[in-house]
Amino acid sequence: FAQADGSCLDARSPGPVIHKEVYGQFVEHLGRGVYEGIWVGPQSPIPNTRGIRNDVVAALRRIKVPVVRWPGGCFADDYHWRHGVGPQRQPSINSSWSNAIEPNTFGTHEFMDFIEQIGAQPYVGVNMGSGSVEEAQGWMQYMTAPATTAPGAERARNGRSEPWAVPFVGVGNESWGCGGHMYAEEYANRYRQFQGYLKSYAGPGVRKIATGPDTDDYEWTDTVMRLATRFRPNATSPILYSPPKPLLDGLSLHFYTLPSNRWGGVHPARGFDEAAWISTMKRALLMDELVGKHSAIMDKYDPAKEVALVVDEWGTWYDKEPDGPGGLWQQNTLRDALVAAVTLNVFHAHAERVRMANVAQMVNVLQAMILTDGPRMLVTPTYHVFDLYQVHQDARRLPLTLDVPRYRHGGLDVPAVTGTASVDAAGRTHVSLANLDPTRPHRLTLEVLGLKPGAVKGRVLTAPAMDSFNSFDAPDTVAPRDFHGARWTGSALTVDLPARSVVGLELR
Ligand code: AHR
Repeated sequence: FAQADGSCLDARSPGPVIHKEVYGQFVEHLGRGVYEGIWVGPQSPIPNTRGIRNDVVAALRRIKVPVVRWPGGCFADDYHWRHGVGPQRQPSINSSWSNAIEPNTFGTHEFMDFIEQIGAQPYVGVNMGSGSVEEAQGWMQYMTAPATTAPGAERARNGRSEPWAVPFVGVGNESWGCGGHMYAEEYANRYRQFQGYLKSYAGPGVRKIATGPDTDDYEWTDTVMRLATRFRPNATSPILYSPPKPLLDGLSLHFYTLPSNRWGGVHPARGFDEAAWISTMKRALLMDELVGKHSAIMDKYDPAKEVALVVDEWGTWYDKEPDGPGGLWQQNTLRDALVAAVTLNVFHAHAERVRMANVAQMVNVLQAMILTDGPRMLVTPTYHVFDLYQVHQDARRLPLTLDVPRYRHGGLDVPAVTGTASVDAAGRTHVSLANLDPTRPHRLTLEVLGLKPGAVKGRVLTAPAMDSFNSFDAPDTVAPRDFHGARWTGSALTVDLPARSVVGLELR
């Protein structure tokens, strides 16, 4: 065992809440993400409820998905919601993704039905890139206005009289890229106009999320926060122009984990070597620096942290699979599980500012939870991490200091172990640990303050190889098992972490 001393868990001082929304997901009309992945239609022989796959819904309910971002992605700025409501649905072109035919059979009502079936909240992205304020306003009214109004009556005629609550709305997507190629100044001004008309007439109100930066575009963050956070100052009307609440509730961040630190190159989803493994881990850990630096800029304009940093696209992005179906479909291996754990650990560490995140994407696209093949479905190693980590949803973070050696390979190095801890409403303490070293186990000796030695329950996710994955013929190759490698020695907890593993512990 590799080992270092000085690790500590302080159960005496619970910190901020880890908002359950950091376990959010992202669904886009792209590849087989919606059609086949979620929607098969009511006439399908695949068991479904009103056209939505029962197997996918059951799997998602198990991991308590708190929020789903839809309909994109780039597609959001290409989407005109009226095409997807009412009895006469006409196909349109998905010009964001290979000019695919968009049948529009999965629209607002179907998305909301899906959301209700899995027990999540909707996070709807309105079209700024090719849409108008009027269109976005009309959609919000269609979804949330009472049936006694014209937009609500239209919704009722289409089968839903009760308004839906829309707690989160995104205003454009990647407006610096596919969503309009704008400069930050232009986006900030357009955001200011859009936000004033995006209202929810049902539920507790809508939180508005502005398009934030790509990766390390700190200038974008600075400009949008400077120009879009407050009403325009006017010394002669301080009351009118100084509302108590910011004009935005969240700023997004998009960051993808590429095996090298750049786009291009050869990055297979499986069949990779240890050099690709460690560079993937290194890249995933960059999330900590990005979130820290963007948050520091946000602090300048929002010291009270009223505006959340919403990491609404994150995950691994590999090469197109030569034998895969395309549409950003990729295999999901044990490496992806480690990326998920490392990233969630980072989000917890920044819980004061990161209050929502949406992994890209939910089914059949990029770092998916679920893969389908016609009637067959499997859950991926990433899904199992979301399952192991669901205990942290809405729990309070506990201070966890890890004094661990570095894992080194080929000139790169990363901490061998990262982790997180929290205490839930029932007083249970949960510790989650990821051993990034693919070849060596690590022994961690955690001095525990404020907890008496008691029962320890554990689960572990590991597999025979770095690129082990679940196939339709062997769907449990990477699956959690009971873990018996943790024991109390006096006031310390010793944990023997297997190589390339994620371990979840519950201390009572
Ligand atoms: O998730 C796939 C794409 O990645 C999204 O559509 C876009 O926002 C990002 O560039």
